[in-house]
Amino acid sequence: MKRKWLMAFTALILTFSLALLGCNSDSKTGGKSGGKNGKGTKLEIFSWWTGAGEEDGLKAILADFKKKHPDINVVNAAVAGGAGTNAKAVLANRMQAGDPPSTFQVHGGAELNDGWVAAGKMEPLDDLYDKEGWRDKFPKDLIDLVSKDGKIYSVPVDIHRGNVIFYNKKIFEENGLQPPKTFDDFKAVADKLLKKGITPLALGDKEPWAATMVFEDILLGKLGPDDYRGLWTGKVGFDDPRVKDAAETFKSWIPYFNKDHSSRNWQDAAQLVGEGKAAMNIMGDWAKGYFTNDLKLKTNVDFGWTTTPNTSDDFMVITDTFGLPKGIDNPDQVKTFLSYLGSTEAQDIFNPLKGSIPARVDADPSKYDEYGKQTMEDFKTAHITPSLAHGSAAPEGFLTKVNNAMNIFVTQQNVDNFINTLVSASSDLK
Ligand code: GAL
Repeated sequence: MKRKWLMAFTALILTFSLALLGCNSDSKTGGKSGGKNGKGTKLEIFSWWTGAGEEDGLKAILADFKKKHPDINVVNAAVAGGAGTNAKAVLANRMQAGDPPSTFQVHGGAELNDGWVAAGKMEPLDDLYDKEGWRDKFPKDLIDLVSKDGKIYSVPVDIHRGNVIFYNKKIFEENGLQPPKTFDDFKAVADKLLKKGITPLALGDKEPWAATMVFEDILLGKLGPDDYRGLWTGKVGFDDPRVKDAAETFKSWIPYFNKDHSSRNWQDAAQLVGEGKAAMNIMGDWAKGYFTNDLKLKTNVDFGWTTTPNTSDDFMVITDTFGLPKGIDNPDQVKTFLSYLGSTEAQDIFNPLKGSIPARVDADPSKYDEYGKQTMEDFKTAHITPSLAHGSAAPEGFLTKVNNAMNIFVTQQNVDNFINTLVSASSDLK
């Protein structure tokens, strides 16, 4: 009960701060995006890439772009909060107020197509793809994720993988452990660690999407790629016994989490693994950017990786893309930026820092570390599945309901209540 009140109060404070944040960002950057701000038209790039592990890639491409286009007034309008927790709300306010940023971070899939495209807020980019000769430069699966009714609406800058376990190599070596492949392996490894007093699985679900990610990876492992995809097309119901099995499995993992998981964000959780205070962390591979850029850890020396149980042939895809909103004053500048973003040059600057692989098929693998090279290879043959937690699988309204349900489930641990909420929320998925 106390927690519920706390959540409601936090939501109120958040809404209030977001309203302020929205005002601030406008007054700082001089009013309507694409409008005149006294120093010329501004190109406002809106994302949630701020701080630890998030902003290095963005800063590097913005600096390179500014060098190439000194005449364009680039403004980094990032709003902090993992997975767009705050940025998406600020964006929604601005779109509603007819004040879109020049371009904004949006996940390929439902978030783009059922969200901003369906609402008539985006311009198609087919001409840009033709001009740049891009139609065969991005994987077909990815172009499909950024297309609706035969038109392309955004440019993918990266491909992140969501079904990854990052682990502390020293802890694994010292305890004679092998990276788990199956659910049984995972349980055996985690139980052994628990007995030794080592936190098996770091979680930071202060923002509940981090728990949703763990759950979606369990769902994928239990259902397999076809039936996991079936959840989003209505072919498989949330009352399927395997969904319940996934919820039971998640519940059985709760004792493996660090006790303070609800007060940590994803970086704070990854840090536990980086510093040897927990053994494993299930996170998208932006965590790799955090390990290498911020904690200065060495790939495959300090930390290793494997896929989440039973998903080694699958790739939970998360793609960050940027498009052209309707109603801005400087579409040509935005197109100049998008042309740059889609170039191999920009992608090979951004992705080695971000932890992701390039969206383009012809990028230069030599620019990537061992993790990046292996992930590029895996992507070519894996079954591609859309992430729920990162907006690709289902519309935002459904995701919000799942995140809320997840938050309650982690605390109350009531599988039936959780499943009932999923089943009733799933009527939102046409
Ligand atoms: C995802 C996004 C990633 C990364 C992550 C954590 O939604 O696609 O690029 O930023 O959130 O904030």
